[in-house]
Amino acid sequence: MIGSEACGDIMQVFIKVDNGVITDAKFKTFGCAAAIATSSTATEMIKGKTVDEALEVTNKKVIEVLGGLPPQKIHCSVLAEQAIKAAIEDYKSRHKS
Ligand code: FES
Repeated sequence: MIGSEACGDIMQVFIKVDNGVITDAKFKTFGCAAAIATSSTATEMIKGKTVDEALEVTNKKVIEVLGGLPPQKIHCSVLAEQAIKAAIEDYKSRHKS
């Protein structure tokens, strides 16, 4: 779970991992339409990727897939990137080998 210092909104990402591959990803967003769009797109983008590949999904890549965002909404996409990274870090902390 991640909160935005810029606007106070909150995003939560859940991942299902099988043998290091993200087989499903869901989100809950208490935020604006851009936050919902970016978290939805970001969770779709990480499905089928390994957890390490998913760490390479940046807010810039999510914005590209969405076809752009207004400058005042960039921080919403940062929230999506941070929420994915937080979910992966949480997974890694629970599955240390
Ligand atoms: Fe808060 Fe978009 S304004 S996430």
